Amino acid sequence: MNDNQLTDMERLVLSRRRFIGAGALAGAALFLGGGLLGRSALANAINAISVSPLMGFANLPASTADTITLPPGYQFDVLISWGQPLHADSTPYRGDGSHNAAEQLGQFGENNDGMSFFPWPGEPDRALMAINNEYSNYGYLLAHGQPPQSLEDVRKAQAAVGVTVIEVRRNNGAWQFVQASRYNRRIHANLPIAVGGPARGHELLKTATDPLGIEVLGTFQNCANGMTPWGTYLTCEENFSDCFGSSDANLALSADQKRYSVQHAGASDNRWHLYDERFDIARHPNELNRHGWVTEIDPFDPSSTPIKRTALGRFKHENAAITTSRDGRVVVYMGDDERGEFIYKFVSRDRFKANDTAANRHLLDHGTLYVAKLDASGDQPRGQGRWVELTAGKNGLTAANGFSDQGNVLIRTRQAASHVGATRMDRPEWIAVSPKDGQVYCTLTNNSKRGSEGQPVDAANPRENNLYGQILRWRENADDAAALQFDWDLYVVAGNPDVHPGSANAGSANVNAENMFNSPDGLAFDADGRLWIQTDGNYSNSGDFAGMGNNQMLCADPVSGEIRRFMVGPPGCEVTGVSFAPDQRAMFIGIQHPGEGGGSSFPDHQAGMRPRSSVVVIRREDGGVIGA
Ligand code: FEO
Ligand code: CA
Ligand code: CA
Ligand code: CA
Repeated sequence: MNDNQLTDMERLVLSRRRFIGAGALAGAALFLGGGLLGRSALANAINAISVSPLMGFANLPASTADTITLPPGYQFDVLISWGQPLHADSTPYRGDGSHNAAEQLGQFGENNDGMSFFPWPGEPDRALMAINNEYSNYGYLLAHGQPPQSLEDVRKAQAAVGVTVIEVRRNNGAWQFVQASRYNRRIHANLPIAVGGPARGHELLKTATDPLGIEVLGTFQNCANGMTPWGTYLTCEENFSDCFGSSDANLALSADQKRYSVQHAGASDNRWHLYDERFDIARHPNELNRHGWVTEIDPFDPSSTPIKRTALGRFKHENAAITTSRDGRVVVYMGDDERGEFIYKFVSRDRFKANDTAANRHLLDHGTLYVAKLDASGDQPRGQGRWVELTAGKNGLTAANGFSDQGNVLIRTRQAASHVGATRMDRPEWIAVSPKDGQVYCTLTNNSKRGSEGQPVDAANPRENNLYGQILRWRENADDAAALQFDWDLYVVAGNPDVHPGSANAGSANVNAENMFNSPDGLAFDADGRLWIQTDGNYSNSGDFAGMGNNQMLCADPVSGEIRRFMVGPPGCEVTGVSFAPDQRAMFIGIQHPGEGGGSSFPDHQAGMRPRSSVVVIRREDGGVIGA
């Protein structure tokens, strides 16, 4: 595209970008804005900005409308929403939260998040999707609209979370949910799940109902995801400790419980521990250790037992971004989403073998877990880093230091990572690996504790009380995902150049008044190398966030540096979860908790119907590639 093909708005944006990109701001008044690096250094976070050849749509204005807003020529359909019946005999959704726990087990779960699209071999119009259902919004889930008041309420919440597998089919270009497919399945908080990997059978996993420590009930708080090259789904257990509490208000919390942020009263109004004693840490302290894992699911076998892959570590898992090393081993990148937590990678012991399902089945049970340590001491947003091995007996992870064996290291991954001096990050959320050059991108969503509580600002986490977030990127040495060293920089530093002109909170040079956003979270590459960024941020559209509108999805060109807003969600929602049909003619995204703060009746827009989380399919009216 040349300048003559641009709209007036695009020309304006472009001229601003060239102005900024030319380094004009580098000489402008420097405001440190509470950060280590000033605006000039942050503007340098991206070296060159030019109009992207990858994006064929114009930047979308911010919006507060109660719908999904897309560029001209794009449309959306709702694929499935909370409560939608999965089976022939499932109870229809009633819109008022009055269905019971047993009925919920036959319906699509709540608060959908990460998802993967599994093409059906040999049938281009057929696929399975595995979709996470993260947690409950009790104001919608329960008819009385309050946090759980009974065991029945808790059972309903447990039936609404986990993962839903569905079949989808394409009719006249539109992907649609197939009710009553034999593949439709709910994987919930009471389903038996096997334990795999080094922590299987560990003392710290044994409970009264599972004295061998090999079978856990359920998966919940399923945030984002991964899709293995052998056709299985990885669901990542994030804020699991929110579901636990103590019946003894005076119980002295152990250091390990505190490290995973357990609270006596539980969190997020779950109150599960009051009615289901499994979640009472005063009575069953080891139950907590059985959650916080990456769990592998085979969507093509509805009778299969999911497996918790303990070799990948236990923390508040965001997603699992999978690639392969130069010698064919599987590499999984993972973030731990809490303020000041770490970035990890797992490298399998064995090589991935295409077309050998049996050999690949337990690849994730054997390998090495590493945590990232960045040299972030410079005065520019770039530097080197290394991967520090978390293996019992190495790097001080010895029995004398409290790490008795590998199972112990993995169950207490956070403590092990702290012990080796890993770098505390601004809440690592999703990670994505470029299909073009193997560079790895990680959203660091925000961090109200940066600058305090042992989290000094550094070159990778450069702002105190980080309101807006940034995206870190790294290139492994020799472009080998199994390398032990890497070079990193910041791809974008989000900010508000209208409210904070000239300060660190204006963000990097590829952020401007037209495309600004806060709290990058969901992140994925499409096959052409477009980087899709989803937000889970402040949607007040006022103060520090004025002009940003509702949560949204942006498209970024990793090479040119340009970022354009592509889609805006309804009020109160978080946009999270993204997957593509292989032909890139359909993009599946998640709208989570629309109307959380009021102001939305998405997607039904009918009186008496509560707003509900939904998976939405985006396509082009001309049938073209999304984003092109
Ligand atoms: Fe479920 Fe860190 O997001
Ligand atoms: Ca997230
Ligand atoms: Ca988030
Ligand atoms: Ca969420």
